[in-house]
Amino acid sequence: IHNVVFKSSDYASLIVAHEIAKLIKEKQKKEEYCVLGLATGSSPIKVYEELVRLHNEEDLSFVNVVTFNLDEYYPMDKNDMQSYHYFMHQHLFDHIDILPENIHIPDGTVKQEDLHQYCIDYELKINSFGGLDFQLLGIGRTGHIGFNEPGSHYNSVTRSITLDHLTRSDAASSFLGIDNVPKRAITMGIGTIKKASRIVIMAWGHKKAEIVKETIEGSISATIPATYLQNHTNTTFILDKEASEELT
Ligand code: F6R
Repeated sequence: IHNVVFKSSDYASLIVAHEIAKLIKEKQKKEEYCVLGLATGSSPIKVYEELVRLHNEEDLSFVNVVTFNLDEYYPMDKNDMQSYHYFMHQHLFDHIDILPENIHIPDGTVKQEDLHQYCIDYELKINSFGGLDFQLLGIGRTGHIGFNEPGSHYNSVTRSITLDHLTRSDAASSFLGIDNVPKRAITMGIGTIKKASRIVIMAWGHKKAEIVKETIEGSISATIPATYLQNHTNTTFILDKEASEELT
């Protein structure tokens, strides 16, 4: 992993948004789809804000963009304000010209008995577009990327998982209590993510400093799934000062 530290997360987010915009335009020139893997949570909010600004003020078009979100809680209703479906529409999709049929977010309403096949189909759908050109990631304090919690296999694919207690407790405030946080989720796998041609992972603030150090300086292991990115040849870790403060 190559890491870059910025003074502020706001500025770093602009840099990430501009890289995405450049890729979209390059693909447009070649009349190709631009296949983006997207994350939710607090880390990418300013990236989406800048992409929306580029659309409104600088004519950036998303007509050739196809998106696949990393994950969704399970079970989860699409209209629930806690859903990643809601988040993505609120922060990005409602404000740009992406075609609705090009948006893919794991569906938290799929019936239990259809879930296994649903996950296989999600993976196949990504492959049918030739894989991800760019994957945007945040990192959880357990070392998860997507919802690949400790123990996830480096070759894992889209599947349903059980969320770690720490992940659920970090989500508790937005759900008004840990008891309201779903116990499970659907997530792309480590293998799915690692097939992306380009990966950008972001971490902001003191709370992430420890896991950032372990991810960048620790040995590769399932205990901290983000360490699997160490042998991906085109990954950049984008940090603000606070998130980088434990690095040696
Ligand atoms: C969200 C996701 C998660 C988050 C991670 C960090 O789609 O896949 O891995 O990126 O939990 O969340 P924030 O950015 O809220 O600290």
